[in-house]
Amino acid sequence: MRFLITAGPTREPIDPVRYLSNRSSGKMGYALAEAALGRGHEVVLISGPVNIPAPDGATVVRVETAQEMYDAVAERIGEAEVAIFCAAVADYRVAEVAGEKIKKTGETLTLTLIKNPDILGSARSVFGFTGLLIGFAAETEKLAEHATGKLLRKGCDLLVANDVSRSDIAFDRDENEVELFYRDGRHETLARASKREIAEGLVERVEELG
Ligand code: C5P
Repeated sequence: MRFLITAGPTREPIDPVRYLSNRSSGKMGYALAEAALGRGHEVVLISGPVNIPAPDGATVVRVETAQEMYDAVAERIGEAEVAIFCAAVADYRVAEVAGEKIKKTGETLTLTLIKNPDILGSARSVFGFTGLLIGFAAETEKLAEHATGKLLRKGCDLLVANDVSRSDIAFDRDENEVELFYRDGRHETLARASKREIAEGLVERVEELG
């Protein structure tokens, strides 16, 4: 199958030298790309800035901002049969990016942020994607409730949720433990394992759904 995978954080510029971002390492998305390639699938990996090597055999599209990731997904999703949105996209960007480095003048500095487009949320409604749609959710509370809400709202077939309040898994760790929520109401846990093992398990389940 042809996979499109988003991975890593996005970077939202404040001025020419500063940005807003998050702690996503890209490891989960890259592990998914490797697992899919290893099982004979084609992969387009749309990646925010990360410090890990590109998986052998993937077509990698590098982006920085959420808007750039949105544009790259809009351009490529039509070719995909499976789309996995693993990226930790910044929800907001700075409303007016300063052309010059901001000087430290006052005691406080206020930045106005505006909402970024929801890329996963646009897959069905804006891009008209009809393939298998898999979303991720990083939650710190009410995992099941937030995950199932997201699954339905964004039109996913499968939502992969992890509890980011735990320091032993998820963000920037080599291991993960995830809860899977399916569109048909099924629920399953993939017990703590390396991100590569979790990725293998996810790709297998995607194949079963496909
Ligand atoms: O709503 P929330 O950001 O928690 O949803 C997480 C899911 O949505 C992830 O799959 C993430 O990759 C995707 N997402 C996106 N574009 C955004 C925000 C989140 O694709 N702007």
